[in-house]
Amino acid sequence: MNHENYNIIKNNIDLSKNFTQNAKDFYDKGLWKSNAESGRKLIAKYFKDMKEVNSLPESLITYKEDYFLSDSCKSILVLSDIHLPYYSKESVLTAIEFGLENEVDTIYLNGDIVDFHSVSRFETNPNERNLMQEVEISRAFFKYLRNVFSSQKIIWKFGNHEERWNSFLTTKASELFNLDVLKIEKLFKIEELDIETIDGRTFAHFGNLTVIHGHELPRGISSPVNPARGLYMKAKENALCGHHHQTSEHTEKSINGKIVSCWTTGCLSSLRPDYAPVNKYNHGFAHVTINNKDFEVRNYKIINNKIY
Ligand SMILES: [Fe+2]
Repeated sequence: MNHENYNIIKNNIDLSKNFTQNAKDFYDKGLWKSNAESGRKLIAKYFKDMKEVNSLPESLITYKEDYFLSDSCKSILVLSDIHLPYYSKESVLTAIEFGLENEVDTIYLNGDIVDFHSVSRFETNPNERNLMQEVEISRAFFKYLRNVFSSQKIIWKFGNHEERWNSFLTTKASELFNLDVLKIEKLFKIEELDIETIDGRTFAHFGNLTVIHGHELPRGISSPVNPARGLYMKAKENALCGHHHQTSEHTEKSINGKIVSCWTTGCLSSLRPDYAPVNKYNHGFAHVTINNKDFEVRNYKIINNKIY
């Protein structure tokens, strides 16, 4: 008999003994004459206890469902790390022009689209904290994007900067956390622009390519040379992320000959922000095409408004 079965049976015997003793007391003390309700409760408790020892209690784990890009999306412009309102207007325009020329059918905004500088938990210059200005510039950006790509699917996946909003509400104004008007979708009026959103912790799948922002990886990517290799070391599957503001690619072959590639995309924001004046950032974006589950990634750099 294994240990688990032994414990279940032993618990049942203990409960039965307990029940028998309680029932005996119940009878001996004549409680049954005056208090039928107590008897019913005693029996109900017995069966509840029996149920608890015979089955595990419920688990509160919740599973986030992955996001699967619709089959109608075959040519996707992936833009990330725009960090509105601290964005590179020229680079964004260059990427948008590429999208128009290549007739993409989907715009995938892969996180850190809005900076949320004003609600950052990091020490920031109080003179630069202007939430309303951030919101207004971002709203104008989304309107412009919808106007330019009027019939394309636009999807906005949240990165660590978008998560600043919920963590601000959680820590500074938890009473307002569930207010509908304070949801990011309402704040930026994107529902009326038909822009879909994806939660920051959800993995997206473009055919056989997994796309994340990059902050989802535990303790990030430790890869001072090539962030795509760092992504490979954690993902071990074909994957693409932003977050590192750096264009990179890494490919490896498994023992069985399976080729796996990972990419990180460049940013569309300042290349020399005050919080990291020395860095390896470059401007860039990706163009992903899908054919059934097969995919092709073209990972572009933008240098002096030219695409490489
Ligand atoms: Fe970023």
